[in-house]
Amino acid sequence: MNIGKNALMVLEKRYLTKDENGNNIETVEELFRRVAAAVAGADGLFCPDADTASVEKRFYDLMTNLDFLPNSPTLMNAGRPLGQLSACFVLPVGDSMEEIFEAVKQAALIHKSGGGTGFSFSRLRAAGSTVRSTGGVASGPVSFMRVFNMATEAVKQGGTRRGANMGILRVDHPDIREFITCKTNNADITNFNISVGITEAFMRAVESGTSYPLIDPKTKSVVREESAPEIFRMIVENAWRNGEPGIIFLDRLNRDNIVPGQGEIESTNPCGEQPLLPYESCNLGSINLVNMLKEDENGNYTVDYGKLKETVELAVHFLDNVIEINKYPIEKIEEVTKLTRKIGLGVMGFSDMLLYLGIPYDSQQAVSLGESLMQFITESARAKSAELAGPRGPFPLFGESIYAGKTEPLRNGTVTTIAPTGTISIIAGCSSGIEPIFAYAFVRNVMDNTELPEVNPVLEEILRKRGLYSGELMRKIADQGSLADIQELPEDIRRVFVCSHDISPESHIRMQAAFQKYTDNAVSKTVNFRHDAAVEEVSKTYLLAYRLGCKGVTIYRDGSRDSQVLNIGKVN
Ligand code: CDP
Repeated sequence: MNIGKNALMVLEKRYLTKDENGNNIETVEELFRRVAAAVAGADGLFCPDADTASVEKRFYDLMTNLDFLPNSPTLMNAGRPLGQLSACFVLPVGDSMEEIFEAVKQAALIHKSGGGTGFSFSRLRAAGSTVRSTGGVASGPVSFMRVFNMATEAVKQGGTRRGANMGILRVDHPDIREFITCKTNNADITNFNISVGITEAFMRAVESGTSYPLIDPKTKSVVREESAPEIFRMIVENAWRNGEPGIIFLDRLNRDNIVPGQGEIESTNPCGEQPLLPYESCNLGSINLVNMLKEDENGNYTVDYGKLKETVELAVHFLDNVIEINKYPIEKIEEVTKLTRKIGLGVMGFSDMLLYLGIPYDSQQAVSLGESLMQFITESARAKSAELAGPRGPFPLFGESIYAGKTEPLRNGTVTTIAPTGTISIIAGCSSGIEPIFAYAFVRNVMDNTELPEVNPVLEEILRKRGLYSGELMRKIADQGSLADIQELPEDIRRVFVCSHDISPESHIRMQAAFQKYTDNAVSKTVNFRHDAAVEEVSKTYLLAYRLGCKGVTIYRDGSRDSQVLNIGKVN
């Protein structure tokens, strides 16, 4: 296997099976063999005389060629006693002590098994409202979020990673101001990403500069009015300050809810790419786009659509099998998950692909390619899902889904999601998700702050090919991060090798929207801002994301979290 140094480090530390003394008792090849065998085993459940050995070989090759990798829990747990294979869960939080602490318990079980959880706290009554049984006063959503946060702190995910949560509050909840500012201090509620659940009504009020009502979730009556532009400004200012809160467009998540009769989608998973109904889970997997290129005899690259189609089909087969062999942490989750059988196939290495194709990330050509690639992937994935529905049957709620009577029966309620691919892209040795390259030479922080200095392999390869590579030049690139001002590099290289901070927030959003257009679920994307970006630019970006049909936005302004840490520790 062609596995890089960093990949090996990550695998050894967190993925390979260990004995009770913490020594690895599995090689990398054995890991992929274990996963391939476990996942292929599902074929035998559908058809007793299935040739599972040949399916296993195809899954093994798919992964060891690094053409596709499933999400981390599948790599860690498939074929092992724990057997919990999904990254994404959403749990309901009801407005009673019993329901709140039931959700805390369920979240702990999910974290222990390696999954991440999303919650909406919008059903909880506002802080200060009365509690009938005791005549006391309710603490409100934010104080309960702190309880979830502490519980998460105490439970390590399967002993390998700390639990991740998404916390969402509707913009019309009476505690919205407290929620927007609950992470103003970086040291608070650290195990949560938070997002404000935005409604169309709110956005219209922002655009027309009017007020909107805050509604008591208990009585459904109007508590007071707020100025929409003022609340919007507050969200934007806080995001500018340290990246939180993000926003999600609730009405859009529900417009794409494939089974509206089952209730409302209130939340996504921790990184925002997977909207789910309460108790639903979803397993993800991503195709490495770098491996979907072909090189002609002149050294020019093009997209190999034939290979991409085959890879998509095998990946859909793989992810549908995962639903079958998954050991769900809670029975109710198994029941609900199997009603829609959602899978989330996505991509990684998109930026690396662009580098080989010689296309700058911030160009119309790149946006068009992103859109057409994703259209191709979703259409191929859906066709495969329809094919699987033949022998395996459609997902049980197909008859009441938005697809009924419009398409042929489908095995899976959704097929595509763009995940962050934080760890699996390190294993595959490619750029993460659809993100631009953060820097061409940098020090990456992996678990436990192990420092890994890196030079982008595509840059190195192309500079060597053109006889431009030198140690001195690499050091210079490491110092400056961006190639934009390195005069000794040819213009075409400086134009193509753009990094996150060379790219305008608008270009980030245009790329997110291009992928979203043909993605069933949502897109994980961070819009990077320069340190000196104005609050107004963040505001414009949020509005653009709304206009272009994105399902949410996450931003990060360079240095906005570090700077706070520096300020605290500074002695002067
Ligand atoms: O690359 P990997 O499969 O490890 O994960 P990712 O694509 O970066 O994240 C996908 C999802 O995994 C997130 O949205 C979370 O739902 C979950 N996750 C988690 O629960 N805990 C983490 N520390 C990281 C991710």
